[in-house]
Amino acid sequence: MQRALIGLAVGVATIAAVQCITMEWSWAVDRAEAEETARLLAKLLNSGRVVIDQNQQLIDDPHKGDKGFTPEVFEQLMIEEFRRRTGIDLSTLQAAPVSVTVSPLAKELLPAFVQASKEVVRDAQVVINQRGIGYKNFIPATYGSQASARFSKKTNVRLKQTTLEPRNPKNTPDDYEASVLKWLAERPRADAYVSELTEGGKTLRVVMPIYYEKECLKCHGEPKGDLDISGYPKEGGREGGLAGAITVSTPLDIR
Ligand code: HEC
Repeated sequence: MQRALIGLAVGVATIAAVQCITMEWSWAVDRAEAEETARLLAKLLNSGRVVIDQNQQLIDDPHKGDKGFTPEVFEQLMIEEFRRRTGIDLSTLQAAPVSVTVSPLAKELLPAFVQASKEVVRDAQVVINQRGIGYKNFIPATYGSQASARFSKKTNVRLKQTTLEPRNPKNTPDDYEASVLKWLAERPRADAYVSELTEGGKTLRVVMPIYYEKECLKCHGEPKGDLDISGYPKEGGREGGLAGAITVSTPLDIR
């Protein structure tokens, strides 16, 4: 009897916990709010990628053990890069009034993405601080896919990094992404984005371009075809050239 009661108690506790999770992440938003949130999320992921890129040499230093590249250091740099790109300061976001630039949904999801990113950097500490090993495969793309996977498990919002000829087949563009990428490739660098409703109008997809920074080029630059440190042939990319895109898929209603 006692055992059954404990079982029941655990069952109730589990249901409460499940409800808690779904209640934390429930929303119904219009297209404009989902679009703005998705654009900011793509910029936040890109900010995190750029921070990893800027610290790649440190991360890959075989002579240094403790790199001091802690989740907190990463968070500071990511927030600073995002502020430079958007003017939005995530460190004071919760205190700020709900404004036009930061919708309620973005106010919830941006900190959640920072948290997911910190967890990825936390879990990578052993790898990052490994002495005697140079290239560690902790690069913008692997950070990005790990942070996105963590984030989407919690929130149901999916982020994908893609390009026309991807190194990782998991990043292969679908037809829509491929057509957007081709369209973007013929145009100069711009703060552009394209969006469409999918899944019978239930999900909004936003595709945003990302461009090569100088630091990306040691792997993605010239000479085209030469192998980079990760063992892939370089793409022959140029600074400011189209690197690919980030796609953000947001369900409009998850109540
Ligand atoms: C140390 C080498 C290295 C650096 C530096 C680097 N990348 Fe990559 N990049 C890779 C590798 C390796 C992959 C494939 C990763 C994987 O397995 O998912 C990749 C994947 C990508 C992808 C996803 C599409 C694909 O090819 O799978 C994009 C987009 C991309 N990189 C852009 C960039 C940009 C922009 C920068 C600079 C901010 C950058 N990369 C810096 C090595 C690098």
